[in-house]
Amino acid sequence: MRLGSIILFVALCSFSAYYVYEPIPEEIEERWKLMLTNTFFRSLSHLADFSELVGLKDYMGVMYVITLIENIVPVSDEHVTVTVENFDGVEVVLYQPKQQSGAAELRRAVVYLHGGGWCLGSSRMSPYDLLARKLAIELNAVILSVEYRLAPAHHFPVPYEDVYRVVKHFLQIGVLSQFSVDPGRIAVSGDSAGGNLAAAVSQQLLKDPAQQVQLKAQALIYPVLQALDLNTPSYQQNQDMPILPRTLMVRFWSEYFTSDKAFFRAMMTNTHNNPESSGLLKFVNWSAFLPETYHKKYNYSAPAVVQGEAEQEFKTGAPSRSLADPRASPLLVPDTALRSLPKAYILTCEYDVLRDDGIMYVTRLRSAGVEVTHEHYDTGFHGALMFTVWPTDFLLARRMTDNYVKWLKENL
Ligand SMILES: *[C@@H]1O[C@H](CO)[C@@H](O)[C@H](O)[C@H]1NC(C)=O
Ligand SMILES: *[C@@H]1O[C@H](CO)[C@@H](O)[C@H](O)[C@H]1NC(C)=O
Repeated sequence: MRLGSIILFVALCSFSAYYVYEPIPEEIEERWKLMLTNTFFRSLSHLADFSELVGLKDYMGVMYVITLIENIVPVSDEHVTVTVENFDGVEVVLYQPKQQSGAAELRRAVVYLHGGGWCLGSSRMSPYDLLARKLAIELNAVILSVEYRLAPAHHFPVPYEDVYRVVKHFLQIGVLSQFSVDPGRIAVSGDSAGGNLAAAVSQQLLKDPAQQVQLKAQALIYPVLQALDLNTPSYQQNQDMPILPRTLMVRFWSEYFTSDKAFFRAMMTNTHNNPESSGLLKFVNWSAFLPETYHKKYNYSAPAVVQGEAEQEFKTGAPSRSLADPRASPLLVPDTALRSLPKAYILTCEYDVLRDDGIMYVTRLRSAGVEVTHEHYDTGFHGALMFTVWPTDFLLARRMTDNYVKWLKENL
């Protein structure tokens, strides 16, 4: 621990001076605060690289500090009863409003999935705890915040399957009535990797012939939706943007699938596709699914398909199959699989590598006839919704939260 502290201190001192001056677009509000916040994230990331290099602790193990520093014990307050439950073997933090509903009135419910690239984050981080309380009170809803297991200890599909199990368990008539939840008013929602899980669960529930209760809505906050093309215009434009530089997003993707560093390197150069996944590139063709304004500076070229030795390596391995799996990349389904999905809220940010994932899903859902509310933040950056707690509280986070809650109020 002492060695860790010293390394952290030295890293912070040496990197601060340089990173504080990272160019961040002028129009982003509270720019200095964002630079300072990002300095912390970048320094931690360098420390994590260094730690992995010298064999102290792996990269994600060090990055997990982000989760730990904001960890709290969720407790009941005067408005909300908070308990930790076990739903079919998966831990869930459950928020139930104390406010009395009318005699026979049933409540709404939101299943919330935290972000953190499937590798970091927890329902117990204070920003998620605050958000869950706010949702519980303002919607008079039951909120389930799912503590799904994380990569790299648990690669895909474990995090996804944990979430799916919770949702299947909760959507049983008997369980819903136990919590006084209206089966017709349930939403799934999440930010970033949580948005990925929410989109995937919405699709898979629809395909499940035994499933009676379906979701009414899905609310996706700057979701991750595809792993095939990691060079969309937004990946290119925002590759060094806070809080999620391209390298970190690629790292999250590769760690979700495998600990094999060769896969990370292939993803970095966008040469990770195999013959199976390349057949699905048409579903993430940004040249077809992004509005013209986003094409301007970029020329579309389909990601390369690996050949030769590398192909052999990935063709047979788990990452190759995961790559083509819509439970990991919800954009990889034909229109027919989108048609009956619950109405959607999709939030995107201009300064976010994942902007185009979200916008492509908006286009594809709309052309399949799904009702979509698309809220795009022109000066938004990835992860903003999390910054609600002093000293890293941003006005943008408050606006985003208010608009998101408003949509749920009106649509759930
Ligand atoms: C992508 O879309 C463009 C425009 O619709 C089309 O010309 C091109 O052939 C497509 N490429 C792939 C790989 O689907
Ligand atoms: C895109 O293609 C056009 C026409 O071929 C070319 O003039 C332009 O430089 C290209 N832009 C990029 C970013 O490669």
